[in-house]
Amino acid sequence: MKKNILASFLALLTLVSVSRAIRADDWGEDSSAGPVYPYSVPLGLNKPKIPQNNPLTKEKVELGRFLYFDKRLSKNNTISCETCHDPDKGWTDQSPVSTGIHGLKGTRSAPPVFNATYNELQFWDGRAPSLEEQAKGPIQNPVEMGFSLKGVEEKIGKIKGYQKMFKKAFGPGSITAEQIVQAIASFERTILSGDSDYDRFVAGNKQALSPSAQRGMNLFFGRARCDVCHSGVNFSDSKFHNLGVGMNSKNPDLGRYLVTKKEGDQGRFKTPGLRGLLYTHPYMHDGSEKTLEAVVDFYNKGGIRNPYLDKEIHPLGLGARQKKDLVAFLKALNGKPALVEIPKTFPN
Ligand code: HEC
Ligand code: HEC
Repeated sequence: MKKNILASFLALLTLVSVSRAIRADDWGEDSSAGPVYPYSVPLGLNKPKIPQNNPLTKEKVELGRFLYFDKRLSKNNTISCETCHDPDKGWTDQSPVSTGIHGLKGTRSAPPVFNATYNELQFWDGRAPSLEEQAKGPIQNPVEMGFSLKGVEEKIGKIKGYQKMFKKAFGPGSITAEQIVQAIASFERTILSGDSDYDRFVAGNKQALSPSAQRGMNLFFGRARCDVCHSGVNFSDSKFHNLGVGMNSKNPDLGRYLVTKKEGDQGRFKTPGLRGLLYTHPYMHDGSEKTLEAVVDFYNKGGIRNPYLDKEIHPLGLGARQKKDLVAFLKALNGKPALVEIPKTFPN
């Protein structure tokens, strides 16, 4: 009898703690759908979704932090993720296109890594379905890190210091490329930028936005309809649109079309988030716009005409003051930079 009481008491206890765990993650999302993001997030953001097969743990994040900055992930130990996504440069490289191994140049602009967790698909053309799959790209890209998954697995697998860390993060067994990208993705999910002037304004601080930025906000969500595409907590619908960027060049980058081969996807690129614009210049997939003023002028003229131009892109007829207001609002979306401790020494 006594045992029974104890058992039901214990059962009740587990029930209480389970329901508490669910309530702790009450962000209006279905928290039973996957593992829970265990940290708090900056104002204005919501908790990143965590994939079922890669629960976020402290050990993985810490391991991912070292891997992210470690040049040994490239074939000749010269390039790390940081080379093109540098925290001191807004987690990008502030260049129109990136320079990788042997000084080779790519064809697209490096997007920031902060808030990439909110993208439903990764890359300008959405060719990677997750941060895990994304991280396999640069390691194997001949103009980025120029290596192979097998090669990186072997090289990192031989490093004693890493063997210890992988054991802590993933348990016993030899190091795999899959674990390497899982750790990097876990680290990236903690690189968040929010708490902008706009977020503080929305949270009730009416002084947080200047009158000019407030007028810009009304244009953004009103007449200029920027939020048709720049929506959600990171100001991106994670969808693909043709603004005509680069479509007037001789050999245009066809963007999403290269992935889907659907005619209508020609020149479509993923809507970028707008939360770090003070750092992420130059803008657009090819880095063709140097300033926010230039971006706003681009929209005001209705993009660049081409047969696949999105129907939402048309001349806006904004005057000089309205363009200034819109720029002031875009600047007010700039979040607090995502800070991280950059490793000075690496596992050996
Ligand atoms: C040589 C420069 C370079 C290196 C090294 C590099 N990247 Fe990138 N990264 C880019 C470029 C350029 C793109 C955009 C390419 C595209 O969309 O086709 C990109 C895209 C991304 C994206 C997608 C973001 C988005 O908004 O779609 C993420 C995430 C990312 N990189 C993370 C990493 C990680 C993690 C590493 C290290 C394993 C890494 N990158 C190494 C240049 C680089
Ligand atoms: C039809 C969807 C759509 C609408 C409407 C739209 N955008 Fe965009 N925006 C995009 C896409 C897609 C890109 C990237 C285009 C490319 O590089 O080819 C982009 C790029 C940008 C960038 C550059 C960001 C970066 O990091 O490179 C800024 C800034 C921007 N938009 C602001 C605005 C503003 C302000 C408005 C309203 C006047 C607006 N957008 C309306 C889809 C849209």
